Amino acid sequence: MDSKYISSVPEIDAQHENIAGLVSSLQDAIARKDRRHLVHQALKQLHQQLIAHFAFEDTLMVRVSHPDLLQHRKVHKRVLCLFDNYFEHPPDPIDYDHLGKLIAEKVHGHVVEDDCRISNEPG
Ligand SMILES: [Fe+2]
Ligand SMILES: [Fe+2]
Repeated sequence: MDSKYISSVPEIDAQHENIAGLVSSLQDAIARKDRRHLVHQALKQLHQQLIAHFAFEDTLMVRVSHPDLLQHRKVHKRVLCLFDNYFEHPPDPIDYDHLGKLIAEKVHGHVVEDDCRISNEPG
């Protein structure tokens, strides 16, 4: 295994897929008024998965002394901050659209774009 290519690690791929599914569920709960009672639970689930995933990814990057570790860690921290803000000050359900868009963009953007960029770096 060449862990510099983190998305070639099966556990990482599986985690990314799981996270993408949770983001979809969150977006679905936000988009449909009859499912808005599920938003908080969807955010909690996504938050828990991200904490575990980021820790896993971090450990892997430390193990291979990945050159992007510190920068990548900062991005993980910024994503988790969105959730801290939500849990500390939950917005009015009328603002869920904005919240959902923001979280979906950041999480999806990181998992799809940032993590894939790492996977494409030359070893
Ligand atoms: Fe990731
Ligand atoms: Fe990451």
